[in-house]
Amino acid sequence: MDLKNKSIAVTGAAGFIGSNLVDHLLEMGADVVGIDNLFNGRLENLESALKSKQFRFYKGDIRDLNFLLEVTTNIDVLFHEAAFTSVPQSILMPESCNDINVKGVLNVLNAARKNDIEKVLFASSASVYGDTPVLPKREDMKREPKSPYGVSKMAGEAYMQVYYTVYGIKTTSLRYFNVFGPRQKDSPYSGVIAIWLGKILRNENLIIFGDGENSRDFTYVKDVIKANILAAEHDAKGEIMNVSCNNPISLTNLAKLMLKITDKQELKIEFADPRPGDILHSYGDISLAKKDIQFEPDYDQESGLKEYLTWYKNKYKVDLNIIQ
Ligand code: UD1
Repeated sequence: MDLKNKSIAVTGAAGFIGSNLVDHLLEMGADVVGIDNLFNGRLENLESALKSKQFRFYKGDIRDLNFLLEVTTNIDVLFHEAAFTSVPQSILMPESCNDINVKGVLNVLNAARKNDIEKVLFASSASVYGDTPVLPKREDMKREPKSPYGVSKMAGEAYMQVYYTVYGIKTTSLRYFNVFGPRQKDSPYSGVIAIWLGKILRNENLIIFGDGENSRDFTYVKDVIKANILAAEHDAKGEIMNVSCNNPISLTNLAKLMLKITDKQELKIEFADPRPGDILHSYGDISLAKKDIQFEPDYDQESGLKEYLTWYKNKYKVDLNIIQ
């Protein structure tokens, strides 16, 4: 399917990943409907999209089926990026996590069914694996989530598969591995890279939960957008596939790398208790995405970080020395 001239909906459109996707789809020439309740998303992220005649924005909640039914008429493809995204927050608020990530998925799929949307792409997560002993993690491994968040994403994937087999809606679930980049918020429930960038700018020490040996396959947002576009252009039969940069790094090494790139080696790395629900190692095998949708990441952690920091420096005019 060629996405140009298609009518596309993006949930979570004002959020970190959703807004990057909206901008890319508009550049490709698609008509885009953005949906967001603006709880976490920010209209600032859609500043450029809102100037486009090919973009319409609807403020509303994916937990409201009637709202979704109204705003998703005449849509060909829907990217479902709206989500409850934080592992520790899901431990504090499991019901909210379930309402947004499970009921929300069900509403999206029911809207797709009633409004004849051809294809739905779902933002799943590496957290469904939990601490499976084998690395890298492959899609045929058992899912053993360790947090309510992981459970909710596992349920979302299962609904995506069932709505293909039972109702014929073409679906693909992409298991994202720790996405980072422009527009990720610095908030206590955000990703570690955005949090540490905030600390570096305030000249605060970086805090690692645990011994620093935990590792993550931090993936630059542009590669995640690339995988979404490729998946939408290919046929979809309920597949689930990993999307990662295929190059994990330990938290200690990430902290050192961020301090080196920003020339802030005088800041210290402090250690605190491990966070409940955290996975130890997250490293994704991307052979399936390579084979099925010809996905190949363009960034590793260092090149992604440098591009992100440069974007941040230019956007917010902060005093940041980026060592190239
Ligand atoms: C992240 C995403 C989640 C996604 C998953 C996929 C966020 C908020 N979470 O979860 O949506 O589905 O990847 O792999 O984007 N840490 C510190 N110090 C800090 C903050 C965090 O050491 O100040 C540690 C955490 O304890 C954890 C690691 O960094 O070990 C990563 O944490 P985080 O960025 O919150 O991401 P995940 O929980 O892996």
